[in-house]
Amino acid sequence: MSKVWFITGASRGIGREVARAALAAGDMVVATARNPQQVEAAFPGEADRLLALSLDVTEEGQSQAAVDAAVARFGRIDVLVNNAGFGQLGAFEEVGAEDIVRQYGTNVFGLFNVTRAVLPVMRRQRAGRIFNLSSMGGTKGFAGASVYCSTKYAVEGYSESLALEVAEFGIRVTIVEPGFFRTDFLDGSSVRYGSKVIEDYVPSSTARRAAYDQYSHRQAGDPAKLGRALVTLAGAAEPPLRYAAGTDALEGIAATLTARLEELERWRSLSASTDIVESAA
Ligand SMILES: NC(=O)c1ccc[n+]([C@@H]2O[C@H](COP(=O)([O-])OP(=O)(O)OC[C@H]3O[C@@H](n4cnc5c(N)ncnc54)[C@H](OP(=O)(O)O)[C@@H]3O)[C@@H](O)[C@H]2O)c1
Repeated sequence: MSKVWFITGASRGIGREVARAALAAGDMVVATARNPQQVEAAFPGEADRLLALSLDVTEEGQSQAAVDAAVARFGRIDVLVNNAGFGQLGAFEEVGAEDIVRQYGTNVFGLFNVTRAVLPVMRRQRAGRIFNLSSMGGTKGFAGASVYCSTKYAVEGYSESLALEVAEFGIRVTIVEPGFFRTDFLDGSSVRYGSKVIEDYVPSSTARRAAYDQYSHRQAGDPAKLGRALVTLAGAAEPPLRYAAGTDALEGIAATLTARLEELERWRSLSASTDIVESAA
């Protein structure tokens, strides 16, 4: 049976490619974006199965209005893709407090806003799939990305817990952990760098930014293939809780998990030493 998708940040990048893959699979797509005209221009002639809606995820009221419009048009929402996001890069001390609020407003509170509006629909249906875009940076830290990684770690902890809360209603949550994908993510139209200049950080920050500028639009990950992978996962009887996308994510996450387990073992006796030992009497 064809599905109804609700995708945030569908104007470009991964979100647009997920929309393309879902349409190609014969599904119906509610593709939301700050500028829905961009979505309509990307998918001409798809008006029967495509609803392009205006949605800035930082505006809570817009989430509810978009969800209401989606249900009015297609009657249900089977798959939510919380994709909208951007990278606030720079060392922690280089990033201003307002920029951190802005980063959380989109990557974390924006994702909460949309999920809060969609969950009642999925609970009524007693069915639904949610894909939350985290990152390889939601499983391991990267120097020069402390603020961004912290938002993706928030997405991970939230999603893992939400999955436990909504499983009884037939709702399944999958955390998507891409490595580097060839989108506008590192492009000046999306990424933001720290605005404070602190001499100590200048050499490392300048080198990192030059490397990212060089890598922009050369990343190994293909967003069209990721779009098709999400279509496969949406149709899987037992979707994974976490899905790593790309060989860089696979290798990076595996190495991080191994190192974490080794560290846990190395400190096992000190970890186990902190329990209160009740006296036998
Ligand atoms: N590409 C990567 O290497 C990579 C790796 C790991 C994780 N990710 C994650 O994947 C997701 C998509 O990124 P991408 O690579 O596709 O980047 P992108 O090409 O820069 O696209 C980002 C999308 O998010 C939208 N967006 C940003 N703020 C928004 C807001 N407040 N409300 C609604 N939409 C908003 C953008 O809309 P506008 O067109 O209006 O700006 C755009 O459609 C993000 O969550 C990102 O953190 C990406």
